[in-house]
Amino acid sequence: MFQSKARITAIGSYVPERTLTNTDLEKLVETDDEWIVQRTGIKERRMAREDEFTSDLAYQAVRNLMERYDKSVDDVDLIIVCTMTPDFKTPSVASTLQAKLGIKNTGAFDLNTACSGFTYGLYVANGMITSGLNKKVLVVGSETLSRITDYTDRATCILFGDGAGAVLLEYDEQQPSFISSHIGSEGEGGKSLYCSNLSNMMNGEEIVDNGKFVQNGRAVYKWAVTTVPKGMKTVLQNASMELKDVDWFVPHSANLRMIESICEKSDFPLEQTLYSLVNFGNTSAATIPLSLDQGVREGKVKNGDKILLYGFGGGLAHAGLFINWTVE
Ligand SMILES: CC(C)(COP(=O)(O)OP(=O)(O)OC[C@H]1O[C@@H](n2cnc3c(N)ncnc32)[C@H](O)[C@@H]1OP(=O)(O)O)[C@@H](O)C(=O)NCCC(=O)NCCS
Repeated sequence: MFQSKARITAIGSYVPERTLTNTDLEKLVETDDEWIVQRTGIKERRMAREDEFTSDLAYQAVRNLMERYDKSVDDVDLIIVCTMTPDFKTPSVASTLQAKLGIKNTGAFDLNTACSGFTYGLYVANGMITSGLNKKVLVVGSETLSRITDYTDRATCILFGDGAGAVLLEYDEQQPSFISSHIGSEGEGGKSLYCSNLSNMMNGEEIVDNGKFVQNGRAVYKWAVTTVPKGMKTVLQNASMELKDVDWFVPHSANLRMIESICEKSDFPLEQTLYSLVNFGNTSAATIPLSLDQGVREGKVKNGDKILLYGFGGGLAHAGLFINWTVE
């Protein structure tokens, strides 16, 4: 098996101050708190200020990590920002973040696999460190989804929010965090969840081209509850482990009903699942680090815990990782 040499050594997160509750949404579209909670489990989400962008959220998440773990990032040699809502088409959020942090000798790039962004980012960062190309890598999931949400569409605007989470990975042969992984992509289903940019055609079909989230909620739901349980099994098989070896399951926080269904199909207890959607909604690449950090702050996640992370969504893409939590 691929022997990792990378360890997660710190975590941090940040969410904007402004809250958008279900009651607030009742004033924008025809919906109600009961419907939203019953179908999604979401009660509120955060929204960035007009002058607050994805790089600002990412910066605050890294500052939070540095302060809590007394870490310097001056010698970071690679920054990966996982996002689908960059400040600009170019430069990348990662380069903007590098400048804000004043890091001098580092590579920086953005990675966009939507809601599986953070697990893809960790997958890449582990590979870079284990191969010897990098020694200290920042992986940040940061999104301002409020900027691409259509607040006249009640089927999507109830779901999305803004936030950021960051982890630091360092070279460590003795106590690596990464045990096994599995990634996949089914681009044929791309039109189930997309935000158009330069084209009004996808896979030979015309699509709604309004620069906002467009979704076939039922199709995404069905895809996720069949793909994720299979993927979870594959990740664990790749480690010669079973679900009973998992202390915490951290799926992408899209919808609580979806998480319940994934747990039921996998015969995994919901009580051992961490999710951030109740107060933050679906923050795409930020949900997994937000959920993990919430678990750390609440004293649930402890050193030595084995954690199964599973990101899934737009693409349609998915990525799972089985990790050992060995943060100092
Ligand atoms: C979006 C989602 C909550 C909608 O729930 P659903 O049960 O599939 O609902 P449907 O879209 O089939 O719509 C059912 C009815 O509710 C209505 N409805 C949709 N959104 C509503 C809202 N916010 N409030 C009240 N009614 C709503 C629909 O108009 C429809 O009414 P109709 O039967 O009169 O036409 C659900 O499909 C979902 O969560 N899917 C996954 C989405 C997701 O997580 N995406 C990100 C993945 S990374």
